Amino acid sequence: MKGVILAGGLGSRLRPLTLVTNKHLLPVYDRPMIYYPIQCMLNAGIDEIMVVTGGEHAGDFLKLLKNGKHLGVRELRYGYQEGEGGIADALKLAEDFADGGKICVILGDNIIEGNIKKAAADFFTQKSGAKIILKEVPDPQRFGVVEFDSNQRIKTLIEKPKNPPSNMAVTGIYFYDGDCFKVCQSLKPSGRGELEITDVNNYYLRRGDLTHETLDGWWTDAGTFESLHRASKFVAESGANHMDLAGARPGLFGGGVRG
Ligand code: DAU
Repeated sequence: MKGVILAGGLGSRLRPLTLVTNKHLLPVYDRPMIYYPIQCMLNAGIDEIMVVTGGEHAGDFLKLLKNGKHLGVRELRYGYQEGEGGIADALKLAEDFADGGKICVILGDNIIEGNIKKAAADFFTQKSGAKIILKEVPDPQRFGVVEFDSNQRIKTLIEKPKNPPSNMAVTGIYFYDGDCFKVCQSLKPSGRGELEITDVNNYYLRRGDLTHETLDGWWTDAGTFESLHRASKFVAESGANHMDLAGARPGLFGGGVRG
């Protein structure tokens, strides 16, 4: 399975920091934000990765990641998203890279304590469809949120609801079959003018082809000052994960961390 990291967008909530570089290259504790989703992919055994970015500072990715070999990435591809048309708009750029196969998609500002090895293995054997990863949060109105039916099955997914029907957020880690690109092509922009990944997930839900898992350990995004600070704090304080990351630091991710 190949991996796609979506690191476009303009990072406007992090100005002035993002006036001089891309949000995903800002530091989270002791390394650039983009290292974490890369590490997450490598930990799940995914080493063919496409990074989709955009904006004025896209060239900085090349300076940092080069061809990815020094990080343990076997093949690194780049895509450039014009504008900020949304997560599903950025995903469209990965169609040729995916080549009809299954993909794991991680939002470039999502950082987790644990790993997605089991979810990736489960999706590998899932015949078709999509899988989402859920996490209970105290502030669900900031995220895609699950509405459950009376049998605790997912009824629908709602993007940033004012009155969240549950505390269960949809994290920025997704698994899709090759149909996701057709779905992205068919979407209309939401009220905020973006092609929403939640609409892609709701398509699979309606098709009866959406599975989910709940994430162990902490999860955070890092797209606001508050969450960026929290991400650094979590990484700094979380012994196990940080040792894993730090252990991989000299050669960066080379050796030993792939599952
Ligand atoms: O973090 C998880 C949440 O991410 C989900 O719960 C939501 O359902 C999902 O919509 C998303 O919400 P955000 O509003 O937090 O997404 P944001 O606009 O911050 O974008 C997250 C990442 O997606 C960003 O770091 C880079 C990538 N992205 C975003 C946009 C808007 C792109 O690559 N291109 C884009 O145009």
